[in-house]
Amino acid sequence: MTDLNPQARQMADESMVRNLDAQARAIWPQEKPLFARYAPPAGAHILDAGCGTGEISSRLAELFPTARVLGIDIIDAHLDLARSRYGSLRPRLTFEHQSVFELAAENCTFDLTVCRHVLHAIPHVDRVIAELVRVTRRGGFLHLIPEDYGMLHFQGGGPHDPRTFWYEAPPSFGSATETDLFIGRNIFGILRAMNLEDVTIDYITVDTIRTRDEFAAILEAWRDGYADAIGELTPITREAAIEYFNQMIANIRDPHGYAVWMVPVVAARVPEAGSCVS
Ligand SMILES: C[S@@+](CC[C@H](N)C(=O)[O-])C[C@H]1O[C@@H](n2cnc3c(N)ncnc32)[C@H](O)[C@@H]1O
Repeated sequence: MTDLNPQARQMADESMVRNLDAQARAIWPQEKPLFARYAPPAGAHILDAGCGTGEISSRLAELFPTARVLGIDIIDAHLDLARSRYGSLRPRLTFEHQSVFELAAENCTFDLTVCRHVLHAIPHVDRVIAELVRVTRRGGFLHLIPEDYGMLHFQGGGPHDPRTFWYEAPPSFGSATETDLFIGRNIFGILRAMNLEDVTIDYITVDTIRTRDEFAAILEAWRDGYADAIGELTPITREAAIEYFNQMIANIRDPHGYAVWMVPVVAARVPEAGSCVS
């Protein structure tokens, strides 16, 4: 049977807390202006599905000062950290243990449903999108960051050429975990097949010019959190994975080097017409 949480170990690792902090610092400044287009009403309900440590749930609560933001996740340690970090935003900001496969909310509850850095890590993306659509009001929006591991570009060279790593590791990691590590490009067809409207894809540029330190911190966290699993699930050994990541980090740290991670930000609107009966 398909494991619904094949990255459970990596998601709960301390390196993930570092990663989410670095990702938020790299991505949020470019992502924040994109939220203006949803124009959520005063007192809007916002869901952050797979909220992790609440990095973005808290930023959303600050960006929309009358909104009520619910962050849900299945890792209690992340939820506890989020509650302790962002207690000053209660009761507008709350965190609950729920799965994106089976949300507790009634149909059409949220004006805006956010799901960042989750869809690449779970199977049955279409089921999850259907659940996110179910809890979003008619005319409301989905805001997604579906990671795509074909959108990382490094300079080549050396015995551990990063281009070889990104060509070889994601397909085998994805098939071993029954997940789509190229969901960034595949989500468009899923959303269109579900008749969602106004589907757009914008790109955040995490690169060595804009976000060198954060980019390096992300790669360090990936190395620390994922080398074991890469060694177990792909033809690349754990030791080689560490060497590949170290080469990438050196490339990012090199003041004359260039590397880029293109991060897709996907928006879609739930059609006005449609039933909200639970
Ligand atoms: C890479 S983190 C992203 C966290 C957050 N969205 C952010 O952007 O900072 C992915 C999160 O998805 C959560 N997750 C994985 N499967 C889930 C599920 N079935 N239901 C809810 N959360 C899930 C993980 O526990 C993890 O905290």
